[in-house]
Amino acid sequence: MALRRFLLALYVQTAFAITPADVLSRSYDYLIVGGGLAGLTLANRLTEDSHSQVLVLEAGEAHLNDPLVDIPGFLGATVGNASYDWLFTTVPQAHANNKSFAWNRGKMLGGSTGISFMAFTRPAENEIDAIGALGNPGWTGENLFKYMRKAETFTPPDPAYAAANNLKFIPRAHGTTGPVHDSFSRFICDAQKPWLTAFETLGVHKIEDSLAGEDVGAFMAPSTIDGVSVTRSYAASAYYVPVSNRSNLVVLIGAEATRIVSLKTDETVEATAVEFLLDGEMHAVSVKSGAEVILSTGTIKTPQILELSGIGDPQILSTLNIDVQVDLPGVGEGMIDQFFFGVSFELKNDSIVTLDDLRDPAFLAEALGGIVPNKTGIMTLGVTAFALVPLHTIVGDARAESLIDAQARKIAAGNFSDTQKQKWDVIIQGLREPMKRGYIELTAFTGFFTTASTPVEGKKYMTLTGHLRFPFSTGSIHAASADPTAQPAIDPHYFEQDIDLEVMVDVLKYLRRLGSTGGFKDLFASETDPGAAVQTDDEIMQYIKNHGGTEYHTVGSAAMLPREKGGVVSPELKVYGTSNIRVVDYSILPIQTSAHPMSALYGIAEKAADIIRGIITV
Ligand SMILES: Cc1cc2nc3c(=O)[nH]c(=O)nc-3n(C[C@H](O)[C@H](O)[C@H](O)COP(=O)(O)OP(=O)(O)OC[C@H]3O[C@@H](n4cnc5c(N)ncnc54)[C@H](O)[C@@H]3O)c2cc1C
Ligand SMILES: *[C@@H]1O[C@H](CO)[C@@H](O)[C@H](O)[C@H]1NC(C)=O
Ligand SMILES: *[C@@H]1O[C@H](CO)[C@@H](O)[C@H](O)[C@H]1NC(C)=O
Ligand SMILES: *[C@@H]1O[C@H](CO)[C@@H](O)[C@H](O)[C@H]1NC(C)=O
Ligand SMILES: *[C@@H]1O[C@H](CO)[C@@H](O)[C@H](O)[C@H]1NC(C)=O
Ligand SMILES: *[C@@H]1O[C@H](CO)[C@@H](O)[C@H](O)[C@H]1NC(C)=O
Ligand SMILES: *[C@@H]1O[C@H](CO)[C@@H](O)[C@H](O)[C@H]1NC(C)=O
Repeated sequence: MALRRFLLALYVQTAFAITPADVLSRSYDYLIVGGGLAGLTLANRLTEDSHSQVLVLEAGEAHLNDPLVDIPGFLGATVGNASYDWLFTTVPQAHANNKSFAWNRGKMLGGSTGISFMAFTRPAENEIDAIGALGNPGWTGENLFKYMRKAETFTPPDPAYAAANNLKFIPRAHGTTGPVHDSFSRFICDAQKPWLTAFETLGVHKIEDSLAGEDVGAFMAPSTIDGVSVTRSYAASAYYVPVSNRSNLVVLIGAEATRIVSLKTDETVEATAVEFLLDGEMHAVSVKSGAEVILSTGTIKTPQILELSGIGDPQILSTLNIDVQVDLPGVGEGMIDQFFFGVSFELKNDSIVTLDDLRDPAFLAEALGGIVPNKTGIMTLGVTAFALVPLHTIVGDARAESLIDAQARKIAAGNFSDTQKQKWDVIIQGLREPMKRGYIELTAFTGFFTTASTPVEGKKYMTLTGHLRFPFSTGSIHAASADPTAQPAIDPHYFEQDIDLEVMVDVLKYLRRLGSTGGFKDLFASETDPGAAVQTDDEIMQYIKNHGGTEYHTVGSAAMLPREKGGVVSPELKVYGTSNIRVVDYSILPIQTSAHPMSALYGIAEKAADIIRGIITV
């Protein structure tokens, strides 16, 4: 059924069919590999110029108008389903009981934004400045925030609802005309209401709007939910659908790129074709002179495709029998993944509506019946309650200082590269200035969201989660085989640096304190996972290793850094040693941020579009 895949705008009314021969015979100025967050943002902006011909190759299917994607309350429902998800796994983790962790990623038009939990937060401005200071001129917080606002249309909440639920925002921090729509969830669980007062009791201040450039404190955040249609706003609905009728845009779904073919001369390496598999058949689309290839395949696939294209560490390429086009040892190195776990509590009051109710088919049918006419209720839910706190809040001032000093000494004494030391120094400096850097994120999830036990029918739960925003442990992602359809070796080195696990033990204890504070104490009947039997530090560590996991926020596998520091791309996002290959996706961040990725990455892709179009230099 190859022809079906070649429909332009498959689910859109304006669809018209073109044949494979048509697609391959056209010539393109930009070949974008990956139709996810960054890829579709670029496709939209680059086709604003009607003279630019753009092709997008996307491995997954389109899921436009799919209720499992569009209806917010189904968040998580497509995670783990192969029609939407690549279903990656890590290699066994030596410091986490040799466990292989599931790593989900969106394999669909819209990429991971289509399966994401829709949380919309921003890093602090100073975090982007720190990325710039690693050797990336032009990358400042002020500038990137401008692009983040360009991407956004924020719909303010109804004032009475906002007042009743403590939903605050600073209007000038938000965009009003961008493609990505965000709004506050129209459903806030009764069991979540004590959030801000509980933090106040624990001495954590409220912040008015975490998207305004400072994010340390407790806050309520919007989600990528369109405030008018009350459906998920994601890369496909935001950046693709509105422009899918542009005649200079061709989007090919079901097309899995396998490598970039390039020509090596004395001066440079130039991409000449992109090969891809479609329904088991190999095709090649040529890159005309002056055209560019933009890899937007995400942090996991981007290093693999670069290596299969001969761009990477010669030692790794030689084990795969791949000829070296560009000697670039940074490819796939310096990868950092954020880790989280939850503590679940059973509610005293079984009448409180939570996502647990959706396990009852009759309840689900009724909730679905209500969402269209009423645009309210649990099916409109997004995650709302967040706090970003410094290490000091979690462990107290004295222990924080001693942990930071010990880690700084360990780094100074160790045999690490200068680049590694510089990146770690950004974390150390952030830890030393508690109000500057949100080191640990805490959230409330409306329902049962842990894995050690199973929820009891008819019971309701709230899960408090803890997230390590700046892990010291650093790993890699490399092609493990010359077969492009085999998954790469994903090795985050979880807990290789002891401090990462030590801190998480304290985070679990802190979540227990939060759960017995303020209004939560009266709402929670008992702790379900890990439960009262888990008490010693060692028991807590085992729980975290066995029942924690990735938060899908992985950076660094094609880092933007100077080449001599192990960088893969320049500040213009050009792959070093090539004349016409760029990477634009989350792999380019050399270090982590405190935020959920989408907002910053939409801004990065908007900025990249201006760089590529020559509107700005960096
Ligand atoms: C389950 C989950 C929940 C998340 N929740 C949140 C959240 O609440 N808030 C938030 O801010 N972020 C969240 N994220 C993270 C966010 O979605 C990602 O960081 C973001 O989408 C990354 O954008 P990207 O462009 O780098 O990659 P993606 O958006 O993943 O896009 C990559 C695209 O490339 C395609 N592709 C890959 N390989 C090939 C190939 N060989 N050929 C052709 N196409 C290919 C993929 O199918 C995909 O469409 C979540 C992610 C996941 C997986
Ligand atoms: C996976 O998604 C497909 C497409 O939406 C759906 O038909 C199928 O029921 C889902 N499978 C599971 C196990 O949920
Ligand atoms: C993990 O695997 C390694 C190598 O196979 C082994 O030496 C080690 O004992 C294992 N660790 C655990 C905790 O099982
Ligand atoms: C595409 O559709 C939009 C809205 O339906 C319309 O405004 C625009 O002119 C159309 N563009 C083209 C190139 O047909
Ligand atoms: C239980 O929760 C429901 C729904 O939130 C509420 O109406 C009711 O008053 C609660 N009952 C008690 C005893 O708190
Ligand atoms: C939707 O609103 C109607 C009218 O107010 C109400 O009767 C119905 O119960 C609501 N449905 C849901 C699921 O909220
Ligand atoms: C330091 O690390 C490098 C690279 O891993 C290695 O080649 C070197 O031998 C190490 N030096 C010492 C003193 O351990």
